[in-house]
Amino acid sequence: MNKVEVCLTPELIHQFELKGKIAVVVDIFRATSCMVAGMGTGVNAIHPVAEVNECFEKGKSGRIMAGERGGIKVEGFDIGNSPFEYMCDMVKGKEIAVSTTNGTQAIVKSEGADEILIGAFLNLSAIANYLKASNKDVVIHCAGWKGTVNLEDTLFAGALIEVLLDNYQSHGDAALLASHVYQNSKHDLCAVAQTSAHAHRLASFGIEKDLTYCMQLDEFDIIPVCKNGIISLK
Ligand code: MLT
Repeated sequence: MNKVEVCLTPELIHQFELKGKIAVVVDIFRATSCMVAGMGTGVNAIHPVAEVNECFEKGKSGRIMAGERGGIKVEGFDIGNSPFEYMCDMVKGKEIAVSTTNGTQAIVKSEGADEILIGAFLNLSAIANYLKASNKDVVIHCAGWKGTVNLEDTLFAGALIEVLLDNYQSHGDAALLASHVYQNSKHDLCAVAQTSAHAHRLASFGIEKDLTYCMQLDEFDIIPVCKNGIISLK
């Protein structure tokens, strides 16, 4: 049986062997949810980068510049980091260059995996079905918050593990922890996720609607994959 592991923060990713495996990167609030929403509604491609400057550089060739620091849109960027901005007419058919506090860092740090998939509750079943057919080991790479663990990405890891368990063996205590947290929360997932530190931070900016949107299950039947630094659809 293939195994599924969980890396709870990009600070720990160096402890995982990614070669030969599929990495599923998740940043529920909000980077990977934005990417899934955008790719599911007509964004052409997304270029995730670690640094703000790289984003400005990519913007010079006509790409939409997107992202945030600390949850707030970077000054000079075209859009911030809301799933609703990723679904607006302005970005349809376009390429987006994006840099975020945690999500794009986790994607960049997943380099080394055979494939890097972009996961969110918005496309959980599509990701699970793809993994089940892949016959490869999986590392769920949680973006966390500035090197620390966060609740919402851990919940996603637990949710994905539950769906995979007929085909996968969960490996390591981080996977066990994610499963326990999810099992104890799944009766009211959205409410539990909204108790997280970043949910409070975003709510203090008045953007509660992003939080409920990011917790929607299976809005999109798509698998965004990051190859050579560019996210496109499988
Ligand atoms: C991140 O990458 O840390 C985020 O997606 C933060 C946010 O904009 O909510």
